[in-house]
Formats: sequence, structure tokens, C-alpha cells
Amino acid sequence: MLRRLLLAASGSDRVRRLVTSAPYARGVVGRYVAGDDAAEAVEAARQLLRRGLLVSLDYLGEDTADPELAAAVAGEYSQLISRLAAAGLAAGGRAEVSVKPTAVGLGLPDHGYKTAAENISRICVAAREAGTTVTLDMEDHQHVEATLRLVADLRREFPDLGCVIQSGLRRSASDCAELAQPGSRVRLCKGAYRAPDSAAFTARGEVDRSYVRCLRTLLRGPGYPMVATHDPRLISIAAAQAGLAGRGADSFEYQMLYGIRPAEQQRLAAGGAAMRVYLPYGRDWYSYLVRRLAERPANLAFFLRSLTSTR
Ligand code: FDA
Repeated sequence: MLRRLLLAASGSDRVRRLVTSAPYARGVVGRYVAGDDAAEAVEAARQLLRRGLLVSLDYLGEDTADPELAAAVAGEYSQLISRLAAAGLAAGGRAEVSVKPTAVGLGLPDHGYKTAAENISRICVAAREAGTTVTLDMEDHQHVEATLRLVADLRREFPDLGCVIQSGLRRSASDCAELAQPGSRVRLCKGAYRAPDSAAFTARGEVDRSYVRCLRTLLRGPGYPMVATHDPRLISIAAAQAGLAGRGADSFEYQMLYGIRPAEQQRLAAGGAAMRVYLPYGRDWYSYLVRRLAERPANLAFFLRSLTSTR
């Protein structure tokens, strides 16, 4: 219930203004966000890679309402990839990028699909030249169909373009079955967006059971599964199922968000697993932060205390 309320409140301009102008908000944001610009993000990536972790960088922003801004987001990604390559961090996909389709134009009323496809292609070309990969994030349930179509269309030219499946959606088991193909990179997460009951499971247990079903399909298939969760039970299940499927440590990876369970990230990497950290940066952090607060009430209490703090 709290999660639903928070996600609903995130659409309010008043709440957004209140949160983004609060003097201590920046301190809390710093727990989840690598910095304001590409230079800070590349430095944070370097530190993570040095500790044996892999990285996927996300330039924060979504629901871009203007084609020129959407092109500028693609430009930011291309420059970020060049910086990663120049720093020797991109080769072999050690640092890759995650892109929200609506940030590069998918939600535009005119030619949204075409604009997003062109912008993502630009980013994929830059990534290919740098020896790394691109993964398309999954957003609101209304964008799932178009996002999966983008992935199918663009994979003809960029076969290593990755995508995300949200186990909270009822359709996801069948999407996983379709995506379990050779070379297909699929990140499996629970889902961070609100969706109507007709499209999504409501009980946490149902979302988890769906996660396990999707996981089994992906791990038994010929693709490259990316197990994105902080949930200790699902991580154990993934490890057991990967063993049953005969998968080696280099044939799938775990993924977690920057700032969440860092000790567990390190433990998995130290045990020989491929462990990738999702690393967001940029000034447009508000919607991302609200989703992180909604995932865990304790975070919300901490955040509210920091907003009202006089220190
Ligand atoms: P769950 O929420 O049950 O958390 C399990 C445990 O993890 C908690 O008990 C707590 O210990 C810890 N934890 C989880 N969230 C926390 C938080 N915010 N702060 C502190 N501790 C926390 N979603 C989406 O809809 N589209 C996408 O493209 C992506 N992409 C993505 C990439 C990667 C790499 C990850 C890890 C996640 C995403 N997500 C996402 C978010 C995902 O859908 C989900 O909302 C979060 O991962 C939280 O779900 P868990 O699976 O961690 O389980």
C-alpha cells in the first residue's frame, strides 16, 4: 500500500519540488547515485571495477518530451562510452550502459518508436566500437510491448542488445520463453513500476514465484541471463538452478543496484561469480530515488528524517 502511494505521489509536481529542493536530499541521493556528470560516473565505475565488479551505467532521466532532448540523451551516452573506452573500462563489456527507451524518445507522441530506435542504434554503434554492450531498461507496463519490439528489431543489427523482464507482470513467463534464444541477454528483475491488477501480480509471493519460473526458463535456455535482485532467497535459488542447468560462472551474471547490499555484491564477486552493479548518474535523480524509497519503508523513514533534519 505504502509502495503504491509513494509511486503515485511521485507524479505530483508539488512533491517533486519539495523533495528536490530539500537541503539534505542530496546526501541521501548520494547513496544511490554516482554523481552529477559523466566524469564522476566514470570514476565511480573505475572504483567498482577495481574491486572485481562489473558495471552498467545509467544516465538518469525518463519520459523525454522533445525529440532534440532525446537526441541529446543519445549524445550523452555516446560520449560516456567514449570516456569509458578511453579509460580502458569498456572493453569486454566490463562497463556497459543501460538505457531507458522513454529517455531517448519512445514516449514522444509523433514518431516515438522511430526516434527511440534511431537513438538506441547510435548508442549501440558507439558501444560496439568500444567493445561493450547496451541493455534497454524496462519501464511502465504500457511501454513493455514497444520496448520488446525495439529489442527484436534492433537485435538484427546488434545481437548483443540486452533487455529487461519484470517478473511482476503476468505476461513475463511467456516473454522469457520467447527471449530464451542463443546470444540473448535478458536481465530479470521483480519490477519497480505500478501496474493494474489485470497486468501484474499483486502479492509479493506471486511476484517471487513468477521470478523463479522466469529464472528457470532463462537459465535452462541458450541465452545469457542477468539475475537482477537483492533478495537473498532468489539469489540462492538462482545459484542452485544455474548448477542444475550446468552453467559455469561466466555464462550468467548477478546484478544489483549501486548502494544496495554492497557487502553481498562483494561476496558474490569474491566467490567467482560475475556481479554487475547498476550505476546511475546525472541530475535528474528524482523518479529513480522515489522507486528506491518505495522498495523499502525503512529507506523512506531515513529519508524523511534527513529532510527535516536541522543539522
Ligand atoms: P526486494 O524488493 O524484495 O528486496 C530484497 C532485499 O533487498 C530487501 O529485503 C532489502 O534487504 C534489499 N533492498 C531492496 N531494495 C532496496 C532498497 N531500495 N534499499 C535498500 N535495500 C533494498 N526495475 C524495473 O522495473 N525495470 C528495470 O529496468 C530495472 N532494472 C534493474 C536493474 C538492476 C541491476 C536491479 C538490481 C534492479 C532493477 N530494477 C528494475 C528494480 C527491480 O525491479 C526491483 O524494484 C528492485 O531490485 C528491488 O527488488 P529486489 O528483487 O531486490 O527484491
